Amino acid sequence: MCEDRLLEDVWREFCCEMDVVRSLPHLLERLAAFAPADRLVLRSFDRTTCVFDTVAVAERTLLADALPSRSVCLPEAAALLHDWFRRGEPATWDATASDPLRSSVVPTGLSGPVVVAPLADPDGRPVGAVCLQPALVESGRLLRRLLEPLSVALVNSGRLEASNRLREAAEADKRAALARLQRQDISDSIVGAQTGLRDVMERVEQVAPTDATVLILGETGSGKEVVARAIHARSRQARGPFLRVNCGAIPSELVDSELFGHERGSFTGAIATRKGWFERADGGTLFLDEVGELPLAAQVRLLRVLQDGSFERVGGEQVRTVNVRLVAATHRDMYEQIEGGYFREDLWYRIGVFPIVLPPLRARVGDIPALAAHFAANAGIRLHGFPLVPSAEDLCMLQDYAWPGNVRELASVVERATILGGGRRLAVKEALGVFAPRRTSEERSPASGPLDLDAAVRRQIEEALRRARGCIEGPRGAAALLGVNPHTLRSRMRKLGIDWTAFR
Ligand SMILES: Nc1ncnc2c1ncn2[C@@H]1O[C@H](COP(=O)(O)OP(=O)(O)OP(=O)(O)O)[C@@H](O)[C@H]1O
Ligand SMILES: [Mg+2]
Repeated sequence: MCEDRLLEDVWREFCCEMDVVRSLPHLLERLAAFAPADRLVLRSFDRTTCVFDTVAVAERTLLADALPSRSVCLPEAAALLHDWFRRGEPATWDATASDPLRSSVVPTGLSGPVVVAPLADPDGRPVGAVCLQPALVESGRLLRRLLEPLSVALVNSGRLEASNRLREAAEADKRAALARLQRQDISDSIVGAQTGLRDVMERVEQVAPTDATVLILGETGSGKEVVARAIHARSRQARGPFLRVNCGAIPSELVDSELFGHERGSFTGAIATRKGWFERADGGTLFLDEVGELPLAAQVRLLRVLQDGSFERVGGEQVRTVNVRLVAATHRDMYEQIEGGYFREDLWYRIGVFPIVLPPLRARVGDIPALAAHFAANAGIRLHGFPLVPSAEDLCMLQDYAWPGNVRELASVVERATILGGGRRLAVKEALGVFAPRRTSEERSPASGPLDLDAAVRRQIEEALRRARGCIEGPRGAAALLGVNPHTLRSRMRKLGIDWTAFR
Protein backbone atom coordinates (compact mmCIF):
# COMPACT_ATOMS: atom_id res chain seq x y z
CA MET A 1 0.00 0.00 0.00
CA CYS A 2 1.43 3.41 -0.94
CA GLU A 3 1.59 6.37 1.45
CA ASP A 4 -1.01 8.33 -0.55
CA ARG A 5 -3.45 5.52 0.03
CA LEU A 6 -2.58 5.64 3.74
CA LEU A 7 -3.41 9.34 3.82
CA GLU A 8 -6.71 8.73 2.05
CA ASP A 9 -7.60 5.97 4.52
CA VAL A 10 -6.75 8.17 7.49
CA TRP A 11 -8.99 10.99 6.23
CA ARG A 12 -11.80 8.51 5.64
CA GLU A 13 -11.35 7.03 9.11
CA PHE A 14 -11.51 10.43 10.79
CA CYS A 15 -14.56 11.44 8.74
CA CYS A 16 -16.46 8.29 9.66
CA GLU A 17 -15.51 8.26 13.33
CA MET A 18 -15.42 11.64 15.04
CA ASP A 19 -14.45 10.17 18.41
CA VAL A 20 -10.63 10.05 18.34
CA VAL A 21 -10.54 7.63 21.27
CA ARG A 22 -11.98 5.08 18.84
CA SER A 23 -10.21 6.15 15.65
CA LEU A 24 -6.66 6.54 17.02
CA PRO A 25 -6.06 2.75 17.51
CA HIS A 26 -7.06 2.20 13.85
CA LEU A 27 -4.62 4.89 12.77
CA LEU A 28 -1.83 3.25 14.78
CA GLU A 29 -2.54 -0.10 13.06
CA ARG A 30 -2.33 1.53 9.64
CA LEU A 31 0.93 3.32 10.56
CA ALA A 32 2.42 0.06 11.81
CA ALA A 33 2.02 -1.37 8.32
CA PHE A 34 4.59 1.20 7.10
CA ALA A 35 6.95 1.74 9.99
CA PRO A 36 7.46 0.48 13.55
CA ALA A 37 4.72 2.17 15.60
CA ASP A 38 3.92 1.03 19.14
CA ARG A 39 2.31 3.99 20.76
CA LEU A 40 0.48 7.12 19.66
CA VAL A 41 -0.68 9.83 22.07
CA LEU A 42 -2.92 12.72 21.04
CA ARG A 43 -3.00 15.76 23.31
CA SER A 44 -5.01 18.95 23.13
CA PHE A 45 -3.52 22.33 24.02
CA ASP A 46 -5.46 25.15 25.70
CA ARG A 47 -3.93 28.46 24.63
CA THR A 48 -5.47 30.47 27.47
CA THR A 49 -4.29 28.21 30.32
CA CYS A 50 -1.19 26.75 28.57
CA VAL A 51 -2.29 23.22 29.54
CA PHE A 52 -1.89 19.98 27.57
CA ASP A 53 -4.59 17.31 28.06
CA THR A 54 -4.32 13.72 26.85
CA VAL A 55 -7.33 13.15 24.58
CA ALA A 56 -6.60 9.65 23.25
CA VAL A 57 -3.93 6.97 23.59
CA ALA A 58 -3.38 4.04 21.20
CA GLU A 59 -0.92 1.31 22.15
CA ARG A 60 0.28 -1.91 20.54
CA THR A 61 2.53 -2.69 23.53
CA LEU A 62 1.00 -1.65 26.80
CA LEU A 63 2.74 0.77 29.13
CA ALA A 64 3.11 -0.32 32.75
CA ASP A 65 1.34 2.78 34.09
CA ALA A 66 -1.52 4.88 32.82
CA LEU A 67 -0.41 8.20 31.38
CA PRO A 68 -1.26 11.31 33.36
CA SER A 69 -3.99 13.20 31.57
CA ARG A 70 -2.83 16.76 32.18
CA SER A 71 0.42 18.71 32.14
CA VAL A 72 0.82 22.40 32.76
CA CYS A 73 3.34 24.21 30.62
CA LEU A 74 6.40 25.27 32.63
CA PRO A 75 7.01 29.04 32.60
CA GLU A 76 10.60 28.54 31.37
CA ALA A 77 9.24 26.53 28.40
CA ALA A 78 6.91 29.26 27.11
CA ALA A 79 9.30 30.76 24.56
CA LEU A 80 10.54 27.34 23.42
CA LEU A 81 6.95 26.14 23.01
CA HIS A 82 6.03 29.16 20.96
CA ASP A 83 9.01 28.54 18.72
CA TRP A 84 8.23 24.82 18.38
CA PHE A 85 4.62 25.49 17.37
CA ARG A 86 5.80 28.10 14.85
CA ARG A 87 8.16 25.64 13.14
CA GLY A 88 5.30 23.13 12.84
CA GLU A 89 7.64 20.17 12.26
CA PRO A 90 7.89 16.78 14.00
CA ALA A 91 11.00 16.51 16.14
CA THR A 92 12.67 13.66 17.97
CA TRP A 93 13.18 14.36 21.65
CA ASP A 94 15.47 12.25 23.74
CA ALA A 95 14.79 11.34 27.32
CA THR A 96 16.53 14.32 28.86
CA ALA A 97 15.06 14.75 32.30
CA SER A 98 15.74 18.45 32.48
CA ASP A 99 14.19 19.45 29.13
CA PRO A 100 11.40 21.91 30.06
CA LEU A 101 9.80 21.69 26.58
CA ARG A 102 9.54 17.89 26.72
CA SER A 103 8.18 17.98 30.31
CA SER A 104 5.49 20.38 29.15
CA VAL A 105 4.39 18.59 25.98
CA VAL A 106 5.06 14.88 26.60
CA PRO A 107 3.19 13.06 29.40
CA THR A 108 5.63 12.01 32.14
CA GLY A 109 4.97 8.26 31.83
CA LEU A 110 6.16 8.26 28.22
CA SER A 111 9.86 7.55 28.82
CA GLY A 112 12.57 7.14 26.20
CA PRO A 113 12.97 8.90 22.86
CA VAL A 114 9.76 10.09 21.25
CA VAL A 115 8.74 11.80 17.99
CA VAL A 116 6.60 14.81 18.84
CA ALA A 117 4.74 17.00 16.36
CA PRO A 118 2.75 20.19 16.98
CA LEU A 119 -0.85 20.37 15.72
CA ALA A 120 -2.52 23.58 14.57
CA ASP A 121 -6.00 24.55 13.31
CA PRO A 122 -6.53 25.76 9.69
CA ASP A 123 -5.72 29.32 10.85
CA GLY A 124 -2.37 28.18 12.22
CA ARG A 125 -3.36 28.46 15.90
CA PRO A 126 -1.82 25.76 18.15
CA VAL A 127 -4.39 23.12 19.16
CA GLY A 128 -2.32 20.20 20.43
CA ALA A 129 0.48 17.71 19.93
CA VAL A 130 0.97 14.13 18.85
CA CYS A 131 3.60 11.79 20.29
CA LEU A 132 4.77 8.62 18.54
CA GLN A 133 7.06 5.82 19.72
CA PRO A 134 9.43 4.29 18.82
CA ALA A 135 11.24 7.38 17.61
CA LEU A 136 12.59 6.35 14.20
CA VAL A 137 13.39 8.48 11.18
CA GLU A 138 10.69 6.89 9.00
CA SER A 139 8.05 7.22 11.75
CA GLY A 140 8.78 10.97 11.93
CA ARG A 141 8.51 11.26 8.14
CA LEU A 142 5.17 9.43 8.09
CA LEU A 143 3.83 11.49 10.95
CA ARG A 144 4.59 14.70 9.05
CA ARG A 145 2.18 13.56 6.30
CA LEU A 146 -0.56 12.91 8.86
CA LEU A 147 -0.42 16.24 10.69
CA GLU A 148 -3.33 17.80 8.82
CA PRO A 149 -5.88 15.00 9.34
CA LEU A 150 -4.71 14.64 12.94
CA SER A 151 -5.27 18.36 13.59
CA VAL A 152 -8.73 18.25 12.02
CA ALA A 153 -9.62 15.15 14.02
CA LEU A 154 -8.49 16.81 17.25
CA VAL A 155 -10.51 19.97 16.57
CA ASN A 156 -13.59 17.94 15.63
CA SER A 157 -13.31 15.76 18.69
CA GLY A 158 -13.23 18.92 20.83
CA ARG A 159 -16.39 20.10 19.11
CA LEU A 160 -18.04 16.71 19.56
CA GLU A 161 -17.22 16.76 23.24
CA ALA A 162 -18.55 20.29 23.61
CA SER A 163 -21.80 19.41 21.86
CA ASN A 164 -22.15 16.27 24.01
CA ARG A 165 -21.72 18.40 27.10
CA LEU A 166 -24.35 20.84 25.82
CA ARG A 167 -26.72 18.00 25.04
CA GLU A 168 -26.25 16.46 28.47
CA ALA A 169 -26.82 19.83 30.12
CA ALA A 170 -29.93 20.42 27.99
CA GLU A 171 -31.26 16.98 28.88
CA ALA A 172 -30.62 17.58 32.57
CA ASP A 173 -32.43 20.94 32.28
CA LYS A 174 -35.30 19.25 30.49
CA ARG A 175 -35.57 16.58 33.18
CA ALA A 176 -35.48 19.19 35.93
CA ALA A 177 -38.08 21.36 34.13
CA LEU A 178 -40.31 18.34 33.58
CA ALA A 179 -40.02 17.37 37.22
CA ARG A 180 -40.90 20.94 38.24
CA LEU A 181 -43.79 20.97 35.79
CA GLN A 182 -45.08 17.64 37.09
CA ARG A 183 -44.91 18.88 40.66
CA GLN A 184 -46.66 22.10 39.61
CA ASP A 185 -49.25 20.15 37.67
CA ILE A 186 -49.96 18.05 40.69
CA SER A 187 -49.96 20.63 43.41
CA ASP A 188 -51.36 23.69 41.67
CA SER A 189 -53.59 22.59 38.90
CA ILE A 190 -56.11 20.08 40.19
CA VAL A 191 -58.94 22.51 39.82
CA GLY A 192 -61.91 21.50 41.96
CA ALA A 193 -59.84 19.53 44.48
CA GLN A 194 -61.79 21.22 47.27
CA THR A 195 -65.15 21.21 45.51
CA GLY A 196 -66.34 18.77 42.82
CA LEU A 197 -63.35 16.46 43.31
CA ARG A 198 -63.30 16.66 47.09
CA ASP A 199 -64.37 13.02 47.59
CA VAL A 200 -61.95 11.87 44.91
CA MET A 201 -59.06 13.72 46.54
CA GLU A 202 -59.97 12.26 49.91
CA ARG A 203 -59.68 8.77 48.40
CA VAL A 204 -56.39 9.78 46.80
CA GLU A 205 -54.99 10.90 50.16
CA GLN A 206 -56.15 7.65 51.77
CA VAL A 207 -54.66 5.28 49.23
CA ALA A 208 -51.52 7.11 48.05
CA PRO A 209 -49.24 6.23 51.00
CA THR A 210 -50.15 2.52 50.80
CA ASP A 211 -48.86 0.21 48.07
CA ALA A 212 -52.35 -0.83 47.00
CA THR A 213 -53.19 -0.99 43.30
CA VAL A 214 -55.63 1.73 42.36
CA LEU A 215 -58.20 1.64 39.58
CA ILE A 216 -59.49 4.97 38.33
CA LEU A 217 -62.83 4.85 36.57
CA GLY A 218 -64.14 7.78 34.63
CA GLU A 219 -65.35 8.99 31.29
CA THR A 220 -62.94 10.16 28.65
CA GLY A 221 -61.25 13.46 29.48
CA SER A 222 -62.49 13.52 33.07
CA GLY A 223 -58.98 13.70 34.55
CA LYS A 224 -57.95 10.09 35.18
CA GLU A 225 -54.30 10.81 34.41
CA VAL A 226 -54.36 13.92 36.59
CA VAL A 227 -55.56 11.77 39.49
CA ALA A 228 -52.99 9.03 38.75
CA ARG A 229 -50.21 11.64 38.93
CA ALA A 230 -51.63 12.99 42.18
CA ILE A 231 -51.44 9.48 43.67
CA HIS A 232 -47.83 9.11 42.49
CA ALA A 233 -46.84 12.49 43.93
CA ARG A 234 -48.20 11.54 47.34
CA SER A 235 -46.80 8.01 47.32
CA ARG A 236 -43.56 6.53 48.66
CA GLN A 237 -42.44 6.18 45.02
CA ALA A 238 -42.78 9.93 44.39
CA ARG A 239 -39.05 10.29 43.69
CA GLY A 240 -39.11 7.45 41.18
CA PRO A 241 -40.44 7.61 37.62
CA PHE A 242 -44.10 7.97 36.68
CA LEU A 243 -44.62 6.08 33.44
CA ARG A 244 -47.88 5.95 31.51
CA VAL A 245 -48.56 3.18 29.07
CA ASN A 246 -51.66 3.24 26.93
CA CYS A 247 -52.67 -0.43 26.80
CA GLY A 248 -55.12 0.27 24.00
CA ALA A 249 -52.45 1.70 21.70
CA ILE A 250 -50.07 -1.29 21.68
CA PRO A 251 -50.62 -3.85 18.89
CA SER A 252 -51.84 -7.01 20.64
CA GLU A 253 -48.91 -9.13 19.41
CA LEU A 254 -46.46 -6.70 21.06
CA VAL A 255 -48.22 -6.17 24.39
CA ASP A 256 -46.18 -8.84 26.20
CA SER A 257 -42.83 -7.61 24.99
CA GLU A 258 -43.77 -3.95 25.61
CA LEU A 259 -44.88 -4.60 29.18
CA PHE A 260 -42.37 -7.23 30.23
CA GLY A 261 -39.47 -6.74 27.77
CA HIS A 262 -37.84 -9.31 25.53
CA GLU A 263 -34.54 -11.09 25.05
CA ARG A 264 -32.58 -10.67 21.85
CA GLY A 265 -33.78 -13.00 19.10
CA SER A 266 -36.94 -14.05 20.95
CA PHE A 267 -39.03 -13.17 17.89
CA THR A 268 -38.52 -11.72 14.41
CA GLY A 269 -37.52 -8.10 14.87
CA ALA A 270 -36.16 -8.56 18.41
CA ILE A 271 -32.70 -7.45 17.35
CA ALA A 272 -31.65 -6.41 20.83
CA THR A 273 -32.60 -7.16 24.42
CA ARG A 274 -35.15 -4.65 25.61
CA LYS A 275 -36.54 -3.74 29.00
CA GLY A 276 -40.32 -3.55 29.29
CA TRP A 277 -42.45 -0.91 31.00
CA PHE A 278 -42.43 -2.81 34.30
CA GLU A 279 -38.65 -2.82 34.50
CA ARG A 280 -38.40 0.80 33.45
CA ALA A 281 -40.89 1.85 36.12
CA ASP A 282 -38.93 0.06 38.87
CA GLY A 283 -38.99 2.21 42.00
CA GLY A 284 -41.84 4.33 40.65
CA THR A 285 -45.42 4.19 39.42
CA LEU A 286 -46.67 2.45 36.31
CA PHE A 287 -49.93 3.92 35.05
CA LEU A 288 -51.75 1.36 32.93
CA ASP A 289 -54.15 3.55 31.00
CA GLU A 290 -57.10 1.89 29.25
CA VAL A 291 -56.38 -1.34 31.11
CA GLY A 292 -59.71 -2.71 29.84
CA GLU A 293 -58.13 -3.02 26.38
CA LEU A 294 -55.44 -5.51 27.44
CA PRO A 295 -55.61 -8.78 25.48
CA LEU A 296 -56.43 -11.85 27.58
CA ALA A 297 -52.93 -13.38 27.25
CA ALA A 298 -51.34 -10.26 28.69
CA GLN A 299 -53.94 -10.21 31.46
CA VAL A 300 -52.63 -13.60 32.66
CA ARG A 301 -49.11 -12.24 32.95
CA LEU A 302 -50.31 -9.08 34.62
CA LEU A 303 -52.17 -11.13 37.19
CA ARG A 304 -48.92 -12.90 38.05
CA VAL A 305 -47.03 -9.63 38.52
CA LEU A 306 -49.81 -8.40 40.77
CA GLN A 307 -49.79 -11.62 42.78
CA ASP A 308 -46.07 -12.09 43.40
CA GLY A 309 -44.38 -9.16 41.69
CA SER A 310 -42.47 -11.44 39.29
CA PHE A 311 -42.31 -11.93 35.54
CA GLU A 312 -39.96 -13.05 32.76
CA ARG A 313 -38.99 -11.18 29.65
CA VAL A 314 -40.39 -12.69 26.45
CA GLY A 315 -37.93 -15.42 25.40
CA GLY A 316 -36.15 -15.21 28.76
CA GLU A 317 -35.83 -17.74 31.56
CA GLN A 318 -34.75 -15.50 34.39
CA VAL A 319 -37.53 -14.62 36.83
CA ARG A 320 -37.40 -10.89 37.53
CA THR A 321 -38.96 -8.91 40.31
CA VAL A 322 -39.68 -5.21 40.38
CA ASN A 323 -40.93 -2.74 42.92
CA VAL A 324 -43.64 -0.90 40.99
CA ARG A 325 -46.76 0.88 42.25
CA LEU A 326 -49.57 0.11 39.84
CA VAL A 327 -52.33 2.55 38.98
CA ALA A 328 -54.78 1.55 36.27
CA ALA A 329 -57.54 3.43 34.52
CA THR A 330 -60.37 2.74 32.17
CA HIS A 331 -63.35 4.52 30.69
CA ARG A 332 -65.09 1.21 30.01
CA ASP A 333 -67.80 -0.45 32.00
CA MET A 334 -65.71 -3.23 33.51
CA TYR A 335 -68.73 -5.31 34.56
CA GLU A 336 -69.78 -5.39 30.94
CA GLN A 337 -66.23 -6.33 29.92
CA ILE A 338 -66.19 -9.20 32.41
CA GLU A 339 -69.65 -10.40 31.43
CA GLY A 340 -68.61 -10.33 27.79
CA GLY A 341 -65.50 -12.41 28.59
CA TYR A 342 -63.09 -9.64 27.55
CA PHE A 343 -61.64 -9.13 31.00
CA ARG A 344 -60.58 -11.82 33.47
CA GLU A 345 -62.58 -11.81 36.65
CA ASP A 346 -59.58 -12.85 38.79
CA LEU A 347 -57.57 -9.92 37.43
CA TRP A 348 -60.48 -7.61 38.13
CA TYR A 349 -60.45 -8.61 41.81
CA ARG A 350 -56.74 -7.78 41.96
CA ILE A 351 -56.88 -4.56 39.99
CA GLY A 352 -60.09 -3.23 41.42
CA VAL A 353 -58.87 -3.36 45.06
CA PHE A 354 -59.33 0.36 45.50
CA PRO A 355 -61.49 1.94 42.82
CA ILE A 356 -61.77 5.71 42.51
CA VAL A 357 -64.70 6.91 40.44
CA LEU A 358 -64.21 10.27 38.78
CA PRO A 359 -67.50 12.09 38.29
CA PRO A 360 -68.12 13.45 34.79
CA LEU A 361 -67.95 17.21 34.40
CA ARG A 362 -71.73 17.55 34.00
CA ALA A 363 -72.05 16.15 37.53
CA ARG A 364 -69.83 18.93 38.91
CA VAL A 365 -71.08 21.97 37.05
CA GLY A 366 -69.93 24.10 39.98
CA ASP A 367 -66.30 23.49 38.96
CA ILE A 368 -66.82 24.85 35.43
CA PRO A 369 -66.13 28.54 36.30
CA ALA A 370 -62.82 27.72 38.02
CA LEU A 371 -61.77 25.31 35.26
CA ALA A 372 -62.72 27.81 32.54
CA ALA A 373 -60.78 30.57 34.33
CA HIS A 374 -57.77 28.25 34.66
CA PHE A 375 -57.79 27.28 30.97
CA ALA A 376 -58.51 30.86 29.79
CA ALA A 377 -55.55 32.19 31.77
CA ASN A 378 -53.24 29.50 30.37
CA ALA A 379 -54.46 29.76 26.77
CA GLY A 380 -54.37 33.57 26.84
CA ILE A 381 -50.75 33.64 28.02
CA ARG A 382 -49.68 30.90 25.64
CA LEU A 383 -51.37 32.30 22.54
CA HIS A 384 -51.35 36.06 23.07
CA GLY A 385 -49.04 36.80 25.99
CA PHE A 386 -51.58 37.72 28.68
CA PRO A 387 -54.31 35.89 30.59
CA LEU A 388 -57.98 36.09 29.60
CA VAL A 389 -60.90 36.01 32.04
CA PRO A 390 -64.29 34.50 31.15
CA SER A 391 -67.25 36.84 31.58
CA ALA A 392 -70.44 35.97 33.50
CA GLU A 393 -72.18 35.41 30.16
CA ASP A 394 -69.38 33.08 28.99
CA LEU A 395 -69.72 31.07 32.18
CA CYS A 396 -73.49 30.76 31.74
CA MET A 397 -73.02 29.35 28.25
CA LEU A 398 -70.30 26.97 29.43
CA GLN A 399 -72.42 25.74 32.34
CA ASP A 400 -75.32 25.13 29.97
CA TYR A 401 -73.39 22.63 27.90
CA ALA A 402 -73.33 18.89 28.75
CA TRP A 403 -69.56 18.27 28.14
CA PRO A 404 -69.53 14.70 26.83
CA GLY A 405 -65.75 15.08 26.41
CA ASN A 406 -65.46 16.40 29.98
CA VAL A 407 -62.54 18.58 31.16
CA ARG A 408 -60.49 17.91 28.03
CA GLU A 409 -63.32 19.20 25.87
CA LEU A 410 -63.73 22.26 28.10
CA ALA A 411 -59.99 22.98 27.74
CA SER A 412 -60.19 22.79 23.96
CA VAL A 413 -63.37 24.90 23.72
CA VAL A 414 -61.70 27.60 25.83
CA GLU A 415 -58.59 27.39 23.64
CA ARG A 416 -60.77 27.72 20.51
CA ALA A 417 -62.58 30.68 22.12
CA THR A 418 -59.19 32.31 22.79
CA ILE A 419 -58.11 31.94 19.15
CA LEU A 420 -61.48 33.07 17.74
CA GLY A 421 -61.50 36.10 20.06
CA GLY A 422 -58.12 37.21 18.68
CA GLY A 423 -56.60 37.50 22.15
CA ARG A 424 -58.91 40.36 23.22
CA ARG A 425 -61.84 38.31 24.51
CA LEU A 426 -63.12 34.77 24.75
CA ALA A 427 -65.47 34.00 21.83
CA VAL A 428 -67.28 31.28 23.77
CA LYS A 429 -70.48 31.35 21.72
CA GLU A 430 -68.60 30.87 18.44
CA ALA A 431 -66.33 28.27 20.02
CA LEU A 432 -69.28 26.19 21.19
CA GLY A 433 -70.67 26.82 17.70
CA VAL A 434 -72.06 23.70 16.13
CA PHE A 435 -72.35 22.06 19.51
CA ALA A 436 -75.71 23.44 20.57
CA PRO A 437 -76.18 23.52 24.33
CA ARG A 438 -77.37 20.13 25.50
CA ARG A 439 -79.16 21.50 28.53
CA THR A 440 -82.21 23.28 27.23
CA SER A 441 -83.89 26.12 29.07
CA GLU A 442 -86.75 23.74 29.80
CA GLU A 443 -84.34 21.44 31.60
CA ARG A 444 -83.16 24.27 33.79
CA SER A 445 -86.69 25.62 34.57
CA PRO A 446 -89.20 22.96 33.69
CA ALA A 447 -92.12 25.07 34.87
CA SER A 448 -91.40 27.84 32.40
CA GLY A 449 -93.21 26.31 29.40
CA PRO A 450 -95.79 23.69 28.43
CA LEU A 451 -94.61 20.21 29.36
CA ASP A 452 -94.49 17.45 26.75
CA LEU A 453 -94.36 14.04 28.49
CA ASP A 454 -92.72 12.24 25.54
CA ALA A 455 -90.06 14.95 25.28
CA ALA A 456 -89.33 14.69 29.01
CA VAL A 457 -89.07 10.89 28.84
CA ARG A 458 -86.85 11.16 25.78
CA ARG A 459 -84.50 13.53 27.60
CA GLN A 460 -84.26 11.21 30.61
CA ILE A 461 -83.52 8.18 28.43
CA GLU A 462 -80.96 10.07 26.37
CA GLU A 463 -79.19 11.33 29.48
CA ALA A 464 -79.08 7.80 30.93
CA LEU A 465 -77.75 6.43 27.64
CA ARG A 466 -75.11 9.11 27.57
CA ARG A 467 -73.98 8.23 31.09
CA ALA A 468 -74.05 4.51 30.33
CA ARG A 469 -72.23 5.16 27.04
CA GLY A 470 -74.98 3.42 25.08
CA CYS A 471 -75.09 0.35 27.28
CA ILE A 472 -78.61 -0.75 28.21
CA GLU A 473 -78.19 -3.78 30.45
CA GLY A 474 -75.86 -4.49 33.37
CA PRO A 475 -75.36 -2.80 36.73
CA ARG A 476 -74.19 0.44 35.09
CA GLY A 477 -76.50 0.24 32.11
CA ALA A 478 -79.13 2.86 31.26
CA ALA A 479 -81.97 0.60 32.45
CA ALA A 480 -80.37 0.29 35.91
CA LEU A 481 -79.76 4.06 36.01
CA LEU A 482 -83.43 4.71 35.22
CA GLY A 483 -84.63 1.92 37.50
CA VAL A 484 -86.63 0.16 34.75
CA ASN A 485 -86.56 -3.26 33.15
CA PRO A 486 -84.25 -3.40 30.07
CA HIS A 487 -87.19 -4.78 27.95
CA THR A 488 -89.37 -1.85 28.98
CA LEU A 489 -86.60 0.57 28.14
CA ARG A 490 -86.02 -0.99 24.72
CA SER A 491 -89.71 -0.81 23.77
CA ARG A 492 -89.91 2.82 24.96
CA MET A 493 -86.85 3.65 22.89
CA ARG A 494 -88.40 2.02 19.82
CA LYS A 495 -91.56 4.02 20.34
CA LEU A 496 -89.66 7.30 20.69
CA GLY A 497 -87.25 6.43 17.86
CA ILE A 498 -84.12 6.68 20.04
CA ASP A 499 -81.01 5.06 18.57
CA TRP A 500 -78.80 3.75 21.41
CA THR A 501 -75.83 3.21 19.06
CA ALA A 502 -75.44 6.99 18.80
CA PHE A 503 -74.33 7.00 22.44
CA ARG A 504 -71.73 4.27 22.12
N1 LIG B 1 -59.30 18.81 37.77
C1 LIG B 1 -58.56 19.24 36.75
N2 LIG B 1 -57.92 20.42 36.85
C2 LIG B 1 -57.18 20.88 35.83
N3 LIG B 1 -57.03 20.26 34.65
C3 LIG B 1 -57.65 19.09 34.50
C4 LIG B 1 -58.45 18.53 35.54
N4 LIG B 1 -58.96 17.37 35.09
C5 LIG B 1 -58.51 17.20 33.84
N5 LIG B 1 -57.71 18.22 33.48
C6 LIG B 1 -57.05 18.41 32.18
O1 LIG B 1 -57.92 17.86 31.21
C7 LIG B 1 -57.19 17.10 30.26
C8 LIG B 1 -57.68 15.66 30.28
O2 LIG B 1 -57.31 15.05 31.52
P1 LIG B 1 -56.78 13.56 31.58
O3 LIG B 1 -55.81 13.29 30.48
O4 LIG B 1 -56.30 13.31 32.98
O5 LIG B 1 -58.13 12.80 31.29
P2 LIG B 1 -58.39 11.25 31.12
O6 LIG B 1 -59.55 10.91 31.96
O7 LIG B 1 -57.13 10.51 31.36
O8 LIG B 1 -58.80 11.19 29.60
P3 LIG B 1 -58.79 9.90 28.59
O9 LIG B 1 -59.83 8.96 29.07
O10 LIG B 1 -59.14 10.49 27.28
O11 LIG B 1 -57.42 9.33 28.66
C9 LIG B 1 -55.73 17.24 30.62
O12 LIG B 1 -55.19 18.27 29.86
C10 LIG B 1 -55.77 17.62 32.09
O13 LIG B 1 -54.65 18.38 32.45
MG1 LIG C 1 -55.98 9.40 30.01
